[in-house]
Amino acid sequence: MAKAVIFNAIRREPTPGNTVSQIVSGDIQPKENQLPADRSARSNQGSAARQKLAKLYAPVAEPLASVETILQTELSSDTPFVDQLLEHSWLVGGKRMRPVLLLLSGMAIAKPQTCADRELHLMGAAIEMIHTATLIHDDVLDKADLRRHQPTANAKWGNRVSVLLGDYLFTHAFHVGSKSGSAAALGKLAAASNLVCAGEMKQNFHAGKFEIDESVYFEIVTQKTAELCAAACGIGAMLVGGNASQIDAFESYGRDLGIAFQIIDDVLDLVGTAEDVGKTLGTDLFNAKATLPIIHCLKTLTNDQRSQFLAVLNAGSDVDHAVKLLNSTGSIDYARQVAQQHASRAEAFAKSLPHNEAAQSLIKLAQFILERSH
Ligand code: IPE
Ligand code: IPE
Ligand code: MG
Ligand code: MG
Repeated sequence: MAKAVIFNAIRREPTPGNTVSQIVSGDIQPKENQLPADRSARSNQGSAARQKLAKLYAPVAEPLASVETILQTELSSDTPFVDQLLEHSWLVGGKRMRPVLLLLSGMAIAKPQTCADRELHLMGAAIEMIHTATLIHDDVLDKADLRRHQPTANAKWGNRVSVLLGDYLFTHAFHVGSKSGSAAALGKLAAASNLVCAGEMKQNFHAGKFEIDESVYFEIVTQKTAELCAAACGIGAMLVGGNASQIDAFESYGRDLGIAFQIIDDVLDLVGTAEDVGKTLGTDLFNAKATLPIIHCLKTLTNDQRSQFLAVLNAGSDVDHAVKLLNSTGSIDYARQVAQQHASRAEAFAKSLPHNEAAQSLIKLAQFILERSH
């Protein structure tokens, strides 16, 4: 029975020829001549950023296409409704940053041909499945209806289906990862996935407590976001035979990059546009999550001002009002500066690597995430 299910799950013929630009644009070609998803709501600014990203991804264009093929072939089913759900999970593609981190980290310290290694591609696909699963569940928790410029799974099919789809992706990730044959790499992926869930639970526990200490915020973002980026880099280094200290150093790079990435994400949630970012914004305030600009702002206010601002925050989602105040206290700038510190540390490590195309991309990626608009 189990065997039959697995056999069914890999029956789809992949669509050949997804280029790196198609992958980062999310313009992945669907099966059987269906029209690609409508991307007309995307902005020009977003398109310039995607072109920049495509250049950064160039050194791993081929292995990334293999990762995409694995996602397409693995995420399919003979049951039409299940197939439709699984197709949604890869067809509505995001930036694919975690598999790219994994591939670039491997390539930065290995001979270029190592990146053709199947284990790297399988683990790249597995980590993207975990990431997508966390987003599908996160959109249920955040009651978000837009993701990757498309309706979320919960907006299309409801929360029950979305929870199950996320569960499928979580479990299938480990099935695919196990084909890599590296128990150590799979162990890293499992540990990081576990921390993502712990981080989301911690965030949920602290919802509504806007005056938390910065250290609690950093603990949450490290767990829910940065640990998966750290694991991507560590697994990449590990699979090409990196030693323990190299693996550790790559993990630190990924962790710093991930923290900076989430801080900027939290800033974009306040000041970005849905057209650029492609997802429902203002969700952090709506769901009463204390992010770095809010925590900073509350610390700078007088007691009276703080009570007034807390009343605004507790009343719900007046993002415009909050952003005006956050700008007046320099709190958005402060958050960007903290992100910059983490990105600079990641960049310094990437600069210490042997000079090659992959290391260059790791340097530029650390810079890109600070200026990203999507
Ligand atoms: C979104 O991650 C969730 C966060 C950790 C902020 P990405 O911005 O990498 O999502 P996709 O995969 O590109 O959609
Ligand atoms: C990141 O937090 C979510 C996960 C790591 C699962 P957010 O809630 O800020 O992510 P977005 O903004 O919805 O992508
Ligand atoms: Mg969210
Ligand atoms: Mg967010």
